[in-house]
Amino acid sequence: MIFWKNFFHNSSINNSSDKTFKKLLLLDKNCNRIEFQDIYVSSTNNVNLYELEQLCDSVGWVKRPLKKVKIALKNSSIIVSLVQKNDSHKRLVGFARATSDSGFNATIWDVVIHPDFQGIGLGKVVIHQLIKQLRQADISTITLFAEPDVISFYKKLGFIKDPDGVKGMFWYPR
Ligand SMILES: CC(C)(COP(=O)(O)OP(=O)(O)OC[C@H]1O[C@@H](n2cnc3c(N)ncnc32)[C@H](O)[C@@H]1OP(=O)(O)O)[C@@H](O)C(=O)NCCC(=O)NCCS
Repeated sequence: MIFWKNFFHNSSINNSSDKTFKKLLLLDKNCNRIEFQDIYVSSTNNVNLYELEQLCDSVGWVKRPLKKVKIALKNSSIIVSLVQKNDSHKRLVGFARATSDSGFNATIWDVVIHPDFQGIGLGKVVIHQLIKQLRQADISTITLFAEPDVISFYKKLGFIKDPDGVKGMFWYPR
């Protein structure tokens, strides 16, 4: 089990006054590679679309029109980004977003961690961040669509498959 923790520190990255990023503190001694020490979490919706596209490419997702991605981001209630950042370098390494009806329901989309950064607890961080913020907004039902190979990942985070026999149904234009 790997633990990350928000590092609530007043000093911000790169000596800038950008307080939208919070440093993640790596607590697991087995993951002490230097690049894992420079990861920050942010909920700003100011995401670079080209960096997001590169991140999605890195896990083999089908390319989507940037114009539509921009609209989807604009209409998302919560966006969580993980950025690896130091004095000379900035890189988007993780992302997830949620849409919400602001009353009862929210759905999580586009959960992705760059392959170089998988397996060190960052997927868990982005989901926990989304759940935390959705619960703060008093959203009680959080849904998502899971590929078969990530069902166990979501189960570990408390998601239930087909609760009470409920099935997801889809309609596509023919
Ligand atoms: C799925 C994904 C987000 C997981 O991110 P990650 O940072 O590697 O996951 P974490 O390191 O936070 O893993 C958290 C836990 O889930 C487990 N886990 C991670 N990926 C898993 C998988 N595919 N299947 C089963 N368990 C998995 C880890 O072993 C860990 O278990 P532990 O808490 O017992 O140690 C990442 O692999 C990814 O981006 N995949 C490609 C895109 C994708 O499929 N996204 C999901 C769309 S539905």
